[in-house]
Amino acid sequence: MVQTLFERSRKGECALLVQPHRSGAGDADALAEFRELARSAGASVVDTLSARIERPNPKFFIGSGKAEELKARKLATGADLILVNHALSPVQERNLEKFCECRVVDRTGLILDIFAQRARSHEGKLQVELAQLKHMSTRLVRGWTHLERQRGGAIGLRGPGETQLELDRRLLAARVKQLDARLEKVQTQRSTARRARERNALPLVSLVGYTNAGKSTLFNALTGAGVYAADQLFATLDPTLRRIDGLNCGPFVLADTVGFIRDLPHDLVAAFKSTLAETRDADLLLHVVDCADPERDRRIAEVERVLAEIGAQDVPQILVFNKLDKLANGEGMPAPRAEMLDGGKTPRVWVSATHALGLDLLRDSIARALQGERVQRWLRLPMQAGRLRARLFAQGLVADERHAEDGWEVRIDAPRALIEPLFGLADGDGEWLRDNLRQPNAV
Ligand code: GTP
Repeated sequence: MVQTLFERSRKGECALLVQPHRSGAGDADALAEFRELARSAGASVVDTLSARIERPNPKFFIGSGKAEELKARKLATGADLILVNHALSPVQERNLEKFCECRVVDRTGLILDIFAQRARSHEGKLQVELAQLKHMSTRLVRGWTHLERQRGGAIGLRGPGETQLELDRRLLAARVKQLDARLEKVQTQRSTARRARERNALPLVSLVGYTNAGKSTLFNALTGAGVYAADQLFATLDPTLRRIDGLNCGPFVLADTVGFIRDLPHDLVAAFKSTLAETRDADLLLHVVDCADPERDRRIAEVERVLAEIGAQDVPQILVFNKLDKLANGEGMPAPRAEMLDGGKTPRVWVSATHALGLDLLRDSIARALQGERVQRWLRLPMQAGRLRARLFAQGLVADERHAEDGWEVRIDAPRALIEPLFGLADGDGEWLRDNLRQPNAV
Protein backbone atom coordinates (compact mmCIF):
# COMPACT_ATOMS: atom_id res chain seq x y z
CA MET A 1 0.00 0.00 0.00
CA VAL A 2 1.35 3.34 -0.98
CA GLN A 3 1.68 5.82 1.82
CA THR A 4 1.48 9.54 1.78
CA LEU A 5 4.10 11.08 4.01
CA PHE A 6 3.67 14.76 4.53
CA GLU A 7 6.73 15.28 6.58
CA ARG A 8 8.67 18.42 7.20
CA SER A 9 12.42 18.36 6.86
CA ARG A 10 14.07 18.24 10.22
CA LYS A 11 16.98 20.39 9.32
CA GLY A 12 17.08 23.08 6.67
CA GLU A 13 18.78 22.09 3.47
CA CYS A 14 21.39 24.42 2.01
CA ALA A 15 20.18 25.44 -1.39
CA LEU A 16 21.85 27.11 -4.32
CA LEU A 17 19.29 28.94 -6.46
CA VAL A 18 19.48 29.25 -10.21
CA GLN A 19 17.46 32.08 -11.74
CA PRO A 20 17.23 31.91 -15.51
CA HIS A 21 16.56 35.04 -17.53
CA ARG A 22 16.25 35.75 -21.19
CA SER A 23 18.32 38.77 -21.91
CA GLY A 24 19.43 41.98 -20.29
CA ALA A 25 19.07 42.25 -16.54
CA GLY A 26 17.71 39.38 -14.48
CA ASP A 27 14.25 39.50 -13.00
CA ALA A 28 14.79 40.63 -9.40
CA ASP A 29 11.15 40.07 -8.46
CA ALA A 30 11.14 36.55 -9.78
CA LEU A 31 14.31 35.77 -7.85
CA ALA A 32 12.94 37.33 -4.65
CA GLU A 33 9.82 35.22 -4.94
CA PHE A 34 11.82 32.08 -5.66
CA ARG A 35 13.91 32.75 -2.58
CA GLU A 36 10.72 32.95 -0.52
CA LEU A 37 9.48 29.70 -2.02
CA ALA A 38 12.76 27.99 -1.11
CA ARG A 39 12.44 29.38 2.39
CA SER A 40 8.82 28.20 2.62
CA ALA A 41 9.98 24.71 1.73
CA GLY A 42 12.46 24.83 4.61
CA ALA A 43 15.69 25.50 2.70
CA SER A 44 18.42 27.96 3.64
CA VAL A 45 19.56 29.78 0.56
CA VAL A 46 23.36 29.87 0.50
CA ASP A 47 23.86 31.47 -2.89
CA THR A 48 22.12 32.44 -6.11
CA LEU A 49 23.30 32.22 -9.66
CA SER A 50 21.66 33.96 -12.54
CA ALA A 51 21.79 32.23 -15.90
CA ARG A 52 21.04 33.86 -19.21
CA ILE A 53 19.09 31.47 -21.41
CA GLU A 54 18.63 32.37 -25.05
CA ARG A 55 17.83 28.86 -26.13
CA PRO A 56 17.57 26.13 -23.48
CA ASN A 57 20.41 23.66 -23.67
CA PRO A 58 18.77 20.25 -24.15
CA LYS A 59 21.37 18.62 -21.92
CA PHE A 60 21.37 20.89 -18.85
CA PHE A 61 18.79 23.58 -19.68
CA ILE A 62 21.50 26.09 -18.71
CA GLY A 63 24.58 26.36 -20.94
CA SER A 64 27.48 24.00 -20.27
CA GLY A 65 29.71 26.90 -19.17
CA LYS A 66 27.06 27.86 -16.64
CA ALA A 67 26.83 24.26 -15.49
CA GLU A 68 30.57 24.36 -14.75
CA GLU A 69 30.09 27.56 -12.78
CA LEU A 70 27.18 26.01 -10.91
CA LYS A 71 29.23 22.99 -9.95
CA ALA A 72 32.06 25.21 -8.69
CA ARG A 73 29.63 27.31 -6.64
CA LYS A 74 28.04 24.21 -5.22
CA LEU A 75 31.44 22.99 -4.06
CA ALA A 76 32.45 26.39 -2.70
CA THR A 77 29.23 26.93 -0.75
CA GLY A 78 28.70 23.35 0.41
CA ALA A 79 25.13 23.45 -0.93
CA ASP A 80 23.35 20.12 -0.87
CA LEU A 81 20.50 21.09 -3.13
CA ILE A 82 20.18 23.05 -6.37
CA LEU A 83 16.86 24.72 -7.08
CA VAL A 84 16.17 25.93 -10.61
CA ASN A 85 13.43 28.53 -11.12
CA HIS A 86 12.12 26.93 -14.29
CA ALA A 87 10.59 23.65 -15.34
CA LEU A 88 13.30 21.15 -16.29
CA SER A 89 12.81 18.06 -18.38
CA PRO A 90 13.57 14.82 -16.52
CA VAL A 91 16.68 14.39 -18.65
CA GLN A 92 17.96 17.88 -17.89
CA GLU A 93 17.35 17.36 -14.20
CA ARG A 94 19.17 14.07 -14.23
CA ASN A 95 22.11 15.40 -16.23
CA LEU A 96 22.51 18.35 -13.90
CA GLU A 97 22.34 16.08 -10.87
CA LYS A 98 25.01 13.80 -12.28
CA PHE A 99 27.20 16.66 -13.34
CA CYS A 100 26.97 18.64 -10.10
CA GLU A 101 26.75 15.54 -7.89
CA CYS A 102 23.89 17.10 -6.04
CA ARG A 103 20.12 16.87 -5.95
CA VAL A 104 18.37 19.20 -8.36
CA VAL A 105 14.74 20.23 -7.98
CA ASP A 106 12.95 22.36 -10.54
CA ARG A 107 10.29 25.01 -9.92
CA THR A 108 7.42 22.54 -10.26
CA GLY A 109 9.03 20.10 -7.82
CA LEU A 110 9.64 22.86 -5.28
CA ILE A 111 6.08 24.19 -5.44
CA LEU A 112 4.70 20.67 -5.10
CA ASP A 113 6.86 20.20 -2.04
CA ILE A 114 5.34 23.29 -0.45
CA PHE A 115 1.85 22.12 -1.32
CA ALA A 116 2.63 18.71 0.21
CA GLN A 117 3.60 20.39 3.46
CA ARG A 118 0.56 22.62 3.58
CA ALA A 119 -2.26 20.51 2.18
CA ARG A 120 -4.65 19.95 5.02
CA SER A 121 -7.94 18.72 3.71
CA HIS A 122 -8.31 15.19 2.47
CA GLU A 123 -9.06 16.50 -0.99
CA GLY A 124 -6.03 18.77 -0.94
CA LYS A 125 -3.72 15.93 0.05
CA LEU A 126 -5.07 13.67 -2.66
CA GLN A 127 -4.70 16.37 -5.31
CA VAL A 128 -1.16 17.15 -4.28
CA GLU A 129 -0.18 13.51 -4.20
CA LEU A 130 -1.68 13.07 -7.64
CA ALA A 131 0.25 16.01 -9.04
CA GLN A 132 3.44 14.77 -7.40
CA LEU A 133 3.03 11.29 -8.80
CA LYS A 134 2.43 12.68 -12.26
CA HIS A 135 5.48 14.89 -11.92
CA MET A 136 7.62 12.06 -10.61
CA SER A 137 6.41 9.42 -13.03
CA THR A 138 8.33 11.07 -15.83
CA ARG A 139 11.39 11.12 -13.60
CA LEU A 140 11.16 7.55 -12.38
CA VAL A 141 12.81 6.14 -15.48
CA ARG A 142 16.17 7.11 -14.10
CA GLY A 143 15.64 4.72 -11.20
CA TRP A 144 16.99 7.25 -8.72
CA THR A 145 20.18 5.27 -8.48
CA HIS A 146 22.61 7.99 -9.42
CA LEU A 147 22.19 9.80 -6.12
CA GLU A 148 22.34 8.66 -2.58
CA ARG A 149 19.00 10.11 -1.79
CA GLN A 150 18.59 8.62 1.65
CA ARG A 151 21.38 10.71 3.03
CA GLY A 152 20.17 13.94 1.55
CA GLY A 153 17.40 16.22 2.65
CA ALA A 154 13.79 16.16 1.78
CA ILE A 155 12.92 19.02 -0.54
CA GLY A 156 11.27 17.74 -3.65
CA LEU A 157 10.98 14.30 -2.14
CA ARG A 158 8.24 14.94 0.34
CA GLY A 159 4.80 13.66 -0.28
CA PRO A 160 4.66 10.13 -1.55
CA GLY A 161 6.96 7.96 0.54
CA GLU A 162 10.45 6.94 -0.44
CA THR A 163 9.49 3.39 -1.29
CA GLN A 164 6.94 4.71 -3.70
CA LEU A 165 9.66 6.15 -5.85
CA GLU A 166 10.91 2.66 -6.51
CA LEU A 167 7.58 1.45 -7.75
CA ASP A 168 7.48 0.72 -11.41
CA ARG A 169 5.43 2.80 -13.77
CA ARG A 170 2.64 0.27 -13.89
CA LEU A 171 2.02 0.53 -10.17
CA LEU A 172 2.27 4.26 -10.42
CA ALA A 173 -0.36 4.40 -13.11
CA ALA A 174 -2.63 2.25 -10.96
CA ARG A 175 -2.14 4.61 -8.04
CA VAL A 176 -2.90 7.63 -10.20
CA LYS A 177 -6.11 5.94 -11.33
CA GLN A 178 -7.04 5.10 -7.77
CA LEU A 179 -6.39 8.67 -6.65
CA ASP A 180 -8.46 10.03 -9.50
CA ALA A 181 -11.37 7.84 -8.45
CA ARG A 182 -11.00 8.77 -4.82
CA LEU A 183 -10.86 12.45 -5.62
CA GLU A 184 -14.03 12.25 -7.58
CA LYS A 185 -15.70 10.74 -4.53
CA VAL A 186 -14.19 13.23 -2.11
CA GLN A 187 -15.30 16.16 -4.20
CA THR A 188 -18.89 15.05 -3.86
CA GLN A 189 -18.58 14.84 -0.11
CA ARG A 190 -18.51 17.74 2.23
CA SER A 191 -15.03 18.86 3.14
CA THR A 192 -13.29 17.51 6.20
CA ALA A 193 -12.75 21.02 7.48
CA ARG A 194 -16.45 21.66 7.58
CA ARG A 195 -17.18 18.41 9.37
CA ALA A 196 -14.45 19.05 11.89
CA ARG A 197 -15.81 22.49 12.49
CA GLU A 198 -19.31 21.24 13.04
CA ARG A 199 -17.97 18.99 15.74
CA ASN A 200 -16.20 21.88 17.36
CA ALA A 201 -18.83 24.41 16.38
CA LEU A 202 -16.20 27.13 16.11
CA PRO A 203 -16.12 29.70 13.33
CA LEU A 204 -13.20 29.40 10.94
CA VAL A 205 -11.16 32.40 9.81
CA SER A 206 -8.73 31.69 6.96
CA LEU A 207 -5.73 33.75 5.88
CA VAL A 208 -5.38 33.89 2.10
CA GLY A 209 -3.15 35.83 -0.26
CA TYR A 210 -0.01 35.81 -2.30
CA THR A 211 3.09 34.13 -1.04
CA ASN A 212 5.25 36.55 0.90
CA ALA A 213 2.31 38.84 1.74
CA GLY A 214 2.96 38.07 5.41
CA LYS A 215 0.23 35.53 6.19
CA SER A 216 2.34 33.39 8.49
CA THR A 217 3.82 36.41 10.24
CA LEU A 218 0.34 37.75 10.83
CA PHE A 219 -0.84 34.32 11.93
CA ASN A 220 1.91 34.27 14.54
CA ALA A 221 1.28 37.86 15.58
CA LEU A 222 -2.42 37.19 16.09
CA THR A 223 -1.93 33.90 17.88
CA GLY A 224 1.10 34.98 19.89
CA ALA A 225 1.43 35.17 23.64
CA GLY A 226 -1.11 36.62 26.04
CA VAL A 227 -4.84 36.30 25.73
CA TYR A 228 -4.55 34.84 22.28
CA ALA A 229 -2.92 31.72 23.59
CA ALA A 230 -2.50 28.83 21.25
CA ASP A 231 -4.65 25.86 21.92
CA GLN A 232 -2.34 22.91 22.40
CA LEU A 233 -4.69 20.54 20.71
CA PHE A 234 -4.65 22.53 17.51
CA ALA A 235 -0.97 23.27 17.89
CA THR A 236 -0.05 19.64 17.90
CA LEU A 237 -2.60 18.54 15.35
CA ASP A 238 -1.71 21.06 12.75
CA PRO A 239 0.72 23.96 13.01
CA THR A 240 -1.40 26.02 10.63
CA LEU A 241 -4.54 25.99 12.78
CA ARG A 242 -4.94 27.85 16.06
CA ARG A 243 -7.82 28.59 18.32
CA ILE A 244 -8.12 32.23 19.32
CA ASP A 245 -9.94 33.24 22.48
CA GLY A 246 -10.42 36.54 24.18
CA LEU A 247 -12.19 38.58 21.50
CA ASN A 248 -15.76 39.61 22.15
CA CYS A 249 -17.01 37.47 19.27
CA GLY A 250 -16.25 34.23 21.11
CA PRO A 251 -13.58 31.70 20.21
CA PHE A 252 -12.70 30.96 16.60
CA VAL A 253 -10.12 29.00 14.66
CA LEU A 254 -7.52 30.85 12.59
CA ALA A 255 -6.10 28.91 9.64
CA ASP A 256 -3.06 29.69 7.53
CA THR A 257 -3.23 28.57 3.89
CA VAL A 258 -0.78 28.03 1.10
CA GLY A 259 0.16 31.26 -0.67
CA PHE A 260 -0.62 32.16 -4.26
CA ILE A 261 2.39 31.86 -6.50
CA ARG A 262 2.85 33.84 -9.66
CA ASP A 263 3.26 31.91 -12.90
CA LEU A 264 1.99 28.76 -11.24
CA PRO A 265 2.84 25.84 -13.53
CA HIS A 266 -0.33 24.94 -15.34
CA ASP A 267 -0.50 21.34 -14.17
CA LEU A 268 -0.36 22.46 -10.55
CA VAL A 269 -3.41 24.68 -10.70
CA ALA A 270 -5.84 21.94 -9.64
CA ALA A 271 -3.62 20.89 -6.73
CA PHE A 272 -3.28 24.47 -5.60
CA LYS A 273 -6.99 25.16 -5.73
CA SER A 274 -7.77 22.06 -3.74
CA THR A 275 -5.38 23.09 -0.98
CA LEU A 276 -7.49 26.24 -0.83
CA ALA A 277 -10.83 24.49 -1.17
CA GLU A 278 -11.62 24.61 2.50
CA THR A 279 -11.61 28.40 2.44
CA ARG A 280 -15.06 28.20 0.91
CA ASP A 281 -16.22 26.78 4.24
CA ALA A 282 -14.63 29.60 6.19
CA ASP A 283 -16.77 32.15 8.00
CA LEU A 284 -14.34 34.93 7.23
CA LEU A 285 -11.33 35.38 4.98
CA LEU A 286 -8.43 37.62 5.89
CA HIS A 287 -7.09 38.49 2.45
CA VAL A 288 -3.54 39.58 3.19
CA VAL A 289 -1.84 41.92 0.74
CA ASP A 290 1.66 43.40 0.70
CA CYS A 291 0.56 47.04 0.49
CA ALA A 292 3.93 48.15 -0.87
CA ASP A 293 3.86 45.66 -3.72
CA PRO A 294 3.69 47.52 -7.05
CA GLU A 295 1.60 44.63 -8.39
CA ARG A 296 -0.78 44.92 -5.44
CA ASP A 297 -4.05 45.56 -7.31
CA ARG A 298 -3.40 42.94 -9.96
CA ARG A 299 -2.68 40.39 -7.24
CA ILE A 300 -5.80 41.26 -5.28
CA ALA A 301 -7.84 40.73 -8.45
CA GLU A 302 -6.11 37.41 -9.10
CA VAL A 303 -6.87 36.15 -5.58
CA GLU A 304 -10.50 37.24 -5.99
CA ARG A 305 -10.74 35.39 -9.29
CA VAL A 306 -9.44 32.14 -7.81
CA LEU A 307 -11.64 32.46 -4.74
CA ALA A 308 -14.62 32.82 -7.06
CA GLU A 309 -13.50 29.77 -9.02
CA ILE A 310 -13.44 27.61 -5.91
CA GLY A 311 -16.81 28.92 -4.76
CA ALA A 312 -15.53 31.14 -1.92
CA GLN A 313 -16.72 34.44 -3.41
CA ASP A 314 -19.51 34.88 -0.87
CA VAL A 315 -17.41 34.34 2.22
CA PRO A 316 -17.10 37.70 4.01
CA GLN A 317 -13.65 39.21 3.68
CA ILE A 318 -11.36 41.67 5.38
CA LEU A 319 -8.63 43.08 3.13
CA VAL A 320 -5.53 43.28 5.28
CA PHE A 321 -2.98 45.71 3.86
CA ASN A 322 0.12 44.40 5.58
CA LYS A 323 3.69 45.76 5.63
CA LEU A 324 2.49 49.28 6.36
CA ASP A 325 6.00 50.00 7.67
CA LYS A 326 7.30 49.74 4.11
CA LEU A 327 5.31 52.86 3.23
CA ALA A 328 7.26 54.93 5.75
CA ASN A 329 8.62 58.14 4.23
CA GLY A 330 10.17 61.37 5.44
CA GLU A 331 7.09 61.95 7.58
CA GLY A 332 7.53 58.65 9.34
CA MET A 333 5.38 55.58 9.45
CA PRO A 334 1.74 55.95 8.32
CA ALA A 335 -0.71 55.28 11.14
CA PRO A 336 -2.56 51.98 11.03
CA ARG A 337 -6.20 52.45 10.11
CA ALA A 338 -9.40 50.65 9.27
CA GLU A 339 -11.51 51.78 6.31
CA MET A 340 -15.07 50.94 5.37
CA LEU A 341 -15.12 51.93 1.72
CA ASP A 342 -17.98 49.94 0.24
CA GLY A 343 -20.46 50.51 3.01
CA GLY A 344 -18.42 48.25 5.25
CA LYS A 345 -18.89 45.18 3.05
CA THR A 346 -15.16 44.55 2.80
CA PRO A 347 -13.34 46.41 5.55
CA ARG A 348 -9.73 47.33 4.80
CA VAL A 349 -7.29 47.33 7.66
CA TRP A 350 -3.76 48.69 7.33
CA VAL A 351 -1.30 46.87 9.58
CA SER A 352 2.29 45.81 10.00
CA ALA A 353 2.64 42.27 11.27
CA THR A 354 6.35 42.58 11.99
CA HIS A 355 5.94 45.87 13.86
CA ALA A 356 2.75 44.72 15.63
CA LEU A 357 0.99 47.82 14.30
CA GLY A 358 -2.77 47.88 13.81
CA LEU A 359 -3.30 44.41 15.23
CA ASP A 360 -5.96 45.64 17.63
CA LEU A 361 -7.81 47.29 14.76
CA LEU A 362 -7.66 44.02 12.91
CA ARG A 363 -8.89 42.08 15.93
CA ASP A 364 -11.81 44.50 16.26
CA SER A 365 -12.67 44.06 12.60
CA ILE A 366 -12.51 40.28 12.92
CA ALA A 367 -14.73 40.38 15.99
CA ARG A 368 -17.21 42.66 14.25
CA ALA A 369 -17.28 40.53 11.12
CA LEU A 370 -17.71 37.29 13.04
CA GLN A 371 -20.20 38.69 15.41
CA GLY A 372 -22.05 40.00 12.41
CA GLU A 373 -25.60 40.21 13.31
CA ARG A 374 -26.26 38.95 16.80
CA VAL A 375 -29.19 36.58 17.10
CA GLN A 376 -31.32 37.58 20.08
CA ARG A 377 -34.71 35.95 20.14
CA TRP A 378 -37.01 33.47 21.72
CA LEU A 379 -37.38 30.10 20.10
CA ARG A 380 -40.09 27.56 20.84
CA LEU A 381 -38.70 24.02 21.12
CA PRO A 382 -41.17 21.13 21.12
CA MET A 383 -40.69 18.14 23.45
CA GLN A 384 -39.05 16.07 20.74
CA ALA A 385 -36.31 18.69 20.31
CA GLY A 386 -34.64 17.70 23.59
CA ARG A 387 -31.37 16.82 21.93
CA LEU A 388 -31.17 20.12 20.11
CA ARG A 389 -32.00 21.98 23.33
CA ALA A 390 -29.13 20.17 25.08
CA ARG A 391 -26.83 21.15 22.24
CA LEU A 392 -27.83 24.81 22.41
CA PHE A 393 -27.08 24.82 26.13
CA ALA A 394 -23.79 22.98 25.65
CA GLN A 395 -22.67 25.63 23.17
CA GLY A 396 -23.57 28.41 25.60
CA LEU A 397 -26.07 29.96 23.21
CA VAL A 398 -29.05 30.11 25.58
CA ALA A 399 -29.53 33.20 27.76
CA ASP A 400 -32.86 32.25 29.34
CA GLU A 401 -35.42 29.47 29.35
CA ARG A 402 -38.97 28.90 30.43
CA HIS A 403 -41.18 25.87 30.25
CA ALA A 404 -44.01 25.83 27.78
CA GLU A 405 -47.01 23.59 27.36
CA ASP A 406 -45.48 21.24 24.83
CA GLY A 407 -41.78 21.80 25.48
CA TRP A 408 -39.58 24.82 26.15
CA GLU A 409 -39.06 28.40 25.16
CA VAL A 410 -35.42 29.37 25.03
CA ARG A 411 -33.93 32.81 24.54
CA ILE A 412 -31.02 32.60 22.17
CA ASP A 413 -28.45 35.35 22.52
CA ALA A 414 -25.29 34.75 20.50
CA PRO A 415 -23.41 35.85 17.41
CA ARG A 416 -24.85 34.30 14.27
CA ALA A 417 -21.41 32.91 13.49
CA LEU A 418 -21.63 30.68 16.55
CA ILE A 419 -25.10 29.45 15.68
CA GLU A 420 -24.62 28.75 11.99
CA PRO A 421 -22.33 25.74 12.46
CA LEU A 422 -25.27 24.01 14.14
CA PHE A 423 -27.26 24.21 10.90
CA GLY A 424 -25.31 21.14 9.81
CA LEU A 425 -26.53 19.00 12.72
CA ALA A 426 -27.79 15.56 11.80
CA ASP A 427 -31.30 14.10 11.87
CA GLY A 428 -33.03 17.25 10.76
CA ASP A 429 -32.05 19.23 13.90
CA GLY A 430 -29.85 21.61 11.92
CA GLU A 431 -32.47 22.26 9.28
CA TRP A 432 -35.16 22.75 11.89
CA LEU A 433 -33.02 25.32 13.68
CA ARG A 434 -32.20 27.20 10.48
CA ASP A 435 -35.81 27.30 9.32
CA ASN A 436 -37.13 28.41 12.69
CA LEU A 437 -34.57 31.16 13.11
CA ARG A 438 -35.72 32.52 9.77
CA GLN A 439 -39.32 32.79 11.00
CA PRO A 440 -40.50 35.86 12.86
CA ASN A 441 -40.07 35.65 16.62
CA ALA A 442 -41.91 32.53 17.69
CA VAL A 443 -42.79 33.68 21.17
P1 GTP B 1 4.02 32.03 2.24
O1 GTP B 1 4.14 31.18 3.45
O2 GTP B 1 5.12 31.82 1.26
O3 GTP B 1 2.67 31.96 1.61
O4 GTP B 1 4.24 33.57 2.70
P2 GTP B 1 3.45 34.36 3.79
O5 GTP B 1 2.37 35.16 3.15
O6 GTP B 1 3.05 33.48 4.91
O7 GTP B 1 4.55 35.42 4.25
P3 GTP B 1 5.46 35.40 5.55
O8 GTP B 1 4.66 35.63 6.78
O9 GTP B 1 6.30 34.20 5.51
O10 GTP B 1 6.31 36.71 5.31
C1 GTP B 1 7.11 36.86 4.16
C2 GTP B 1 8.17 37.90 4.43
O11 GTP B 1 7.57 39.18 4.66
C3 GTP B 1 9.00 37.60 5.67
O12 GTP B 1 10.33 37.93 5.39
C4 GTP B 1 8.41 38.51 6.73
O13 GTP B 1 9.34 38.87 7.72
C5 GTP B 1 8.01 39.71 5.89
N1 GTP B 1 6.92 40.48 6.53
C6 GTP B 1 5.76 39.99 7.03
N2 GTP B 1 5.03 40.99 7.55
C7 GTP B 1 5.74 42.12 7.38
C8 GTP B 1 5.50 43.49 7.72
O14 GTP B 1 4.50 43.89 8.32
N3 GTP B 1 6.48 44.38 7.34
C9 GTP B 1 7.61 44.01 6.70
N4 GTP B 1 8.48 44.97 6.37
N5 GTP B 1 7.86 42.72 6.38
C10 GTP B 1 6.94 41.79 6.72
